[in-house]
Amino acid sequence: MRFVVQPGSVHDAAVAVPGDKSISHRAVMLGSIATGTTDVSGFLNGEDCLATLAAMSAMGVETEQHDATTLTIHGVGLHGLQAPTTDLDMGNSGTAMRLMTGLLAGQSFDTRLVGDDSLTSRPMQRIITPLESMGAAIGSRDGRPPLEVQGGRALQAIHYDLPMASAQVKSAVLLAGLYADGTTSVSESAVTRDHTERMLKAMGVHVSSTSGRIAVEGGQELTGGRVDVPGDLSSAAFVLLAACISESADIVVRNVGINPTRTGVIDILRAMGANLEMTNTGERSGEPVADIRVRSSQLSGIEVDPALVSLAIDEFPVLFVAAACADGVTRFSGIEELRVKESDRIGAMAAGLRELGIRVEESEDGAVVHGGKFGGGTVQSFGDHRIAMSLAIAGTVAESAVTVLDTDAVATSFPGFTGLLGSMGAGIEEISA
Ligand code: S3P
Repeated sequence: MRFVVQPGSVHDAAVAVPGDKSISHRAVMLGSIATGTTDVSGFLNGEDCLATLAAMSAMGVETEQHDATTLTIHGVGLHGLQAPTTDLDMGNSGTAMRLMTGLLAGQSFDTRLVGDDSLTSRPMQRIITPLESMGAAIGSRDGRPPLEVQGGRALQAIHYDLPMASAQVKSAVLLAGLYADGTTSVSESAVTRDHTERMLKAMGVHVSSTSGRIAVEGGQELTGGRVDVPGDLSSAAFVLLAACISESADIVVRNVGINPTRTGVIDILRAMGANLEMTNTGERSGEPVADIRVRSSQLSGIEVDPALVSLAIDEFPVLFVAAACADGVTRFSGIEELRVKESDRIGAMAAGLRELGIRVEESEDGAVVHGGKFGGGTVQSFGDHRIAMSLAIAGTVAESAVTVLDTDAVATSFPGFTGLLGSMGAGIEEISA
């Protein structure tokens, strides 16, 4: 599929975005190994989370999907998963593969995890190293998928100093820690999203988190319950920016997760001059939520604080578009992790923005983006959902039509993206390639 985006302002609207991807994955994984049932609402019915759901079904977990976003998971308890008869296909999802590997390292049976071409090229040594030091045995192709996780290993608790800011690595170690003898802990030098810790606590597991050190004792049973998944701030970011850069828009995105480990994008957009307001703040299933109101704003270039990188890790593609729309120059640094996401996101965004007439200087760990005006043209998404959506948002304020190629992966995180943008007045069409 491809997007064809015609320039045109978005107008006033109140919208909701699909459920949070990180929380939806965790609801399925933790609900599956809990005792009792877990009722999930607001589930992200996207390909990534459906891959996690399919993997759990393949290991004997009964799930009922009542409608697109509501499901019941019949938990089998910490030791109730059964050997799957096939490979577990994690599709495009790094979160699914890394968290599942942690969870599977402590099972009594072998598993093999595979993924699509993008996932097969992503680094997995970052989870293999700590899991093997706990006693797991994980085969890989030079640190990349497929991963062969041997069962029947007795895991020992470890302390692990995370060498990179990664919630996926942290979560993989903590999930393996549930099956380990003793108390497993991780220290992080930069704060990363804490959805695993929050959901474990909500399911009755004692998790201690003090000054960057998170610890969990093995053998604790989880108790199923309700998980109300909030809207995904990472998806809302596209809508927020579309409104910000539009001529006269006033948009409210309802019920968005505003966990403080995720809100770097709001801080960065505000520092650039965005008119963003949070209303109706509250809490659902242990996660803070709010409605976010955004109005058209004149953005200015800034030096992005590297301390915010791990808090906005998935929003840099759309922040590059914000930078291109800003007056002056925006400097990004410390974002080298972007090079090992679903695509090399620094390279992909630099290529796309240049194609549309924006000056971008790229370095190994960052980029300098010069504000300008987008011309029309055809740009590559490199099969990466967030690149595709970011470049589509650029198209809404370009001088002529922008075509974004290879957009199928948008279904991994944001089903209904074109319909939602269309309902806000954007001229976007998805057509078969
Ligand atoms: C995620 C963690 C982040 C993020 C990804 C989801 C998670 O990855 O980029 O989209 O749900 O734990 P890293 O932990 O690799 O930074």
